[in-house]
Amino acid sequence: MLHVNNISKAFATGRRRIKVLKDISFYVEKGEIVALKGKSGSGKTTLLNCCCGLESPDSGKVICSGIDLKTLSAGQLSRFLRTKTGFVFQQGNLLSYLTVSENISFPLHLNGEKANNIKSRVSELLAIIGMEEAKHALPSGLSGGETLRVSVARALSHKPEMLFADEPTASLDTATGKSVLSLIRDLSRMQKSTVVFSTHDPELLSMADRVLELKDGELKE
Ligand SMILES: Nc1ncnc2c1ncn2[C@@H]1O[C@H](COP(=O)(O)OP(=O)(O)OP(=O)(O)O)[C@@H](O)[C@H]1O
Ligand SMILES: [Mg+2]
Repeated sequence: MLHVNNISKAFATGRRRIKVLKDISFYVEKGEIVALKGKSGSGKTTLLNCCCGLESPDSGKVICSGIDLKTLSAGQLSRFLRTKTGFVFQQGNLLSYLTVSENISFPLHLNGEKANNIKSRVSELLAIIGMEEAKHALPSGLSGGETLRVSVARALSHKPEMLFADEPTASLDTATGKSVLSLIRDLSRMQKSTVVFSTHDPELLSMADRVLELKDGELKE
């Protein structure tokens, strides 16, 4: 489902050049839930972004959902991102001027889904995340945990093959973080999405099938 082959990435800051990813390879099977751990600055975000095509590695190859990301044009990449992948960001990143329901349905509209299908999918997701009563609320009125739940529903609304979540629980206490991760796990199991999430909370690692650790630019299982 996700093949990462010998990717490297360096950033130049002033006169220094930091090698953030050094010849990294790993494979994630369909339906697996993999956690990526590592200290702040170890390169988790950079690696996740390279895995989904938001950043390109300096060398090496990423095959995500059967597609070699290097071969995609900009237009093909944006189509790939909105149909095959979903994202959850640390702060949720909901669109502030859209309601809870509208945020959840956003990817479905982008993908040209029929109005009836959108309506039933949004109702189904609101029930799963337990937020039917807040469906007309704007993000500014939601707690951190609620924001993340809506963000998870949005990321999985179009049943993407791959879900990437970059420290989805970093702004939450451990208990709320666990409930958001359970939601990610249950929803993705239900629709057979493959998940890679990053975290630096050791308590959340047990929620993954497998843990990878980034250290000094290298990956350890
Ligand atoms: N666009 C960029 N330009 C220059 N340096 C960058 C850039 N993006 C990341 N870096 C550097 O690469 C290293 C890894 O950053 P990255 O954000 O991937 O780490 P992280 O593990 O996600 O950290 P955190 O846990 O704090 O989110 C850091 O030293 C960072 O300063
Ligand atoms: Mg990061």
